[in-house]
Amino acid sequence: MRWLRKAAIGSLYQFKQSEFMKTSAGRNVVVVGTQWGDEGKGKLVDWLTESAQGVVRFQGGHNAGHTLVINGVKTALHLIPSGIMRPGVKCYIGNGVVLSPAKLFEEIAGLEQVGVDVRSRLRISEACPLILPFHAALDLAREAAREHGGLVKIGTTGRGIGPAYEDKIARRALRVQDLKFPERFAAKLRDLLALHNHVLTSFLGSAAFDFGPTLAPFMRNGEVQFDPVYAQAMAHAKLLAPMMADVSRELNEAHQAGANLLFEGAQGTLLDVDHGTYPFVTSSNCVAGNASAGAGVGPGMLHYVLGITKAYCTRVGSGPFPTELDWEREGTPGYHMSTVGAEKGVTTGRSRRCGWFDAALLKRSAQVNGLSGLCITKLDVLDGLAELQLCTGYMLDGAHTDILPMGADDIERCQPVYETLPGWTQSTVGVTQYEALPPEARRYLERIAELTGVPIHMVSTSPDRDHTILMRDPYQAR
Ligand code: IMP
Repeated sequence: MRWLRKAAIGSLYQFKQSEFMKTSAGRNVVVVGTQWGDEGKGKLVDWLTESAQGVVRFQGGHNAGHTLVINGVKTALHLIPSGIMRPGVKCYIGNGVVLSPAKLFEEIAGLEQVGVDVRSRLRISEACPLILPFHAALDLAREAAREHGGLVKIGTTGRGIGPAYEDKIARRALRVQDLKFPERFAAKLRDLLALHNHVLTSFLGSAAFDFGPTLAPFMRNGEVQFDPVYAQAMAHAKLLAPMMADVSRELNEAHQAGANLLFEGAQGTLLDVDHGTYPFVTSSNCVAGNASAGAGVGPGMLHYVLGITKAYCTRVGSGPFPTELDWEREGTPGYHMSTVGAEKGVTTGRSRRCGWFDAALLKRSAQVNGLSGLCITKLDVLDGLAELQLCTGYMLDGAHTDILPMGADDIERCQPVYETLPGWTQSTVGVTQYEALPPEARRYLERIAELTGVPIHMVSTSPDRDHTILMRDPYQAR
């Protein structure tokens, strides 16, 4: 009996202690794209960073492209978390990111040129797999081979992302921590090159392929050369050393010390390797749950998931897009979205395909991410369209479905079912109060929330940091 009482008091004490820790520890928000990327996450991450002390990237690599406009000055980031633009905020690159040291230092140089201090604020996980020149060579040669063989290209960014993740999953990747040991690095690199050069020359016919000026210094007769890759990596190793870290440990400690963290997703849910329009996807998990595995924190540390959602849809690269419009013909709604929305890729400069808002797609996204709230971006781009079509579901093989099916083959056969809503003529650019939006714009937003079952907590009405309507602050919502 006595031991029972003691145990009860003990567990009460433990409960009180953990309750105390919960209230003193920080609050953490995950930001994900809910469509095919390019939803405008960069601006929102930057905006939310006002409430955060640390910003974390947990997947993807320099295939991402975030444009930030601060005081009218445009900055494009690919690899470094958007929080870097806020002085004093710590930035972390988690183990789930594939890291190109060459691109990292290019980006650091660009930021330092405009006076942004990067090196003292950036922490990079030692467990990040490296992207090296042969990954980009494989990416480009594979895309060319697909085309040559009559297959549709994936439309990758050509940055080596897929091949780098393949090496990781095959347990042969060179990781950031290998850079600390030159002999170990050299031995692993030799093995990797033996494999990849065989694939490049014998399978992909790389001897006849033009890899362009960036890769030329690393290649001879279609093969990637050991010496230049090794020399460049060793030069980067010295520069990287002060930023290498046990990011998982640092994040857990920062959280316990009361820091608010922001987990910044790259790409978008429909590009997720499992949940997206497979095989027309990127090679990582872009969903919110991966913030945990890709940064080394427990899922209980993720308190709120914000889904960044464009007021219409866009996608770059190939793959199905049920609500796609003709976006090249002047005078059409698609052309309006493409031109008014300036829909060009930040990373590759490619035009983005444009189409109507797809609520059935968003329903899928809401489920796989466990969205707490939506932030609708680029609402202002729809200003001036007489009518808006909203996709509420699809006809698939003669049956109606209200949610996006799994994988490209089924999605390809989906015929969208639309609902028509009135547009608005007034400008919404720069509006910061929900009530100040035209009634038709409010109706559009409310219908989106209704169809997807996710409340709208924020609306962005221009690329400017301050042009944001806030209904509920993700850092306050409990
Ligand atoms: P990868 O990530 O370079 O392998 O490209 C795979 C697919 O993801 C292609 O359709 C790319 O266009 C797309 N993609 C990769 N990163 C982004 C991004 O940041 N925004 C939009 N699409 C992306």
